[in-house]
Amino acid sequence: MMVHVPKVLAAEQVAYCRHALDEAEWIDGKATVGEQGALVKRNRQLPELSPVAKQLGEMILVALSKNSLFFSAALPLRTVPPLFNRYEGGERYGTHIDGAVRAVPGTSFFIRTDLSSTLFLSEPSEYEGGELVVFDTYGKQEVKLAAGDLVLYPAGSLHRVNPVTQGQRTCAIFWTQSMVPDNQQRELLFGFDATIQSLRRKQGESDETVALAGHYHNLLRLWTQV
Ligand code: NI
Repeated sequence: MMVHVPKVLAAEQVAYCRHALDEAEWIDGKATVGEQGALVKRNRQLPELSPVAKQLGEMILVALSKNSLFFSAALPLRTVPPLFNRYEGGERYGTHIDGAVRAVPGTSFFIRTDLSSTLFLSEPSEYEGGELVVFDTYGKQEVKLAAGDLVLYPAGSLHRVNPVTQGQRTCAIFWTQSMVPDNQQRELLFGFDATIQSLRRKQGESDETVALAGHYHNLLRLWTQV
């Protein structure tokens, strides 16, 4: 399941990121991939430990920590600091799968990558091509979102970025280890939570919504691994 999380960053935060990224030094995107990725990855990215990447990454993680839709969909336990990448002049990232385990840069920690996120920092009108294409259980999904919006998808999905034939596409990408590793269980909890929230909006809190919240938390308690 793919989840569109709108407006993770406000317009002024996007503008701030874009300005900082335009001033930054970019390196070959092959720096952070394994052998298979190196064959198909054609883009540029910020060095992982560069001050700009750290500062903007922190801003994104703070924004995510306040985003209830991201929390409900991802049930995040840990999220690696975002990477920033840029595609132009026909650059692309061919079909690949993200590594299952990732080192957290600058630490001795690892996370299991349950979920991948792409946060768009360019407006769709700024470039041609550059769709994120994800092969999920419902077939091929093509994604190109407004600047500041994010798409979340299971990290075990094959995916690619189509060639950017005009303009420039800038994104932040990152991985999350979820408290609920199983995709089906997490999706069920996400649907359950959305239904409770919708019931609350329609009829306020009731004995039934309190009981349903209890069932939700008992399922989460059963399936969570923290
Ligand atoms: Ni990838």
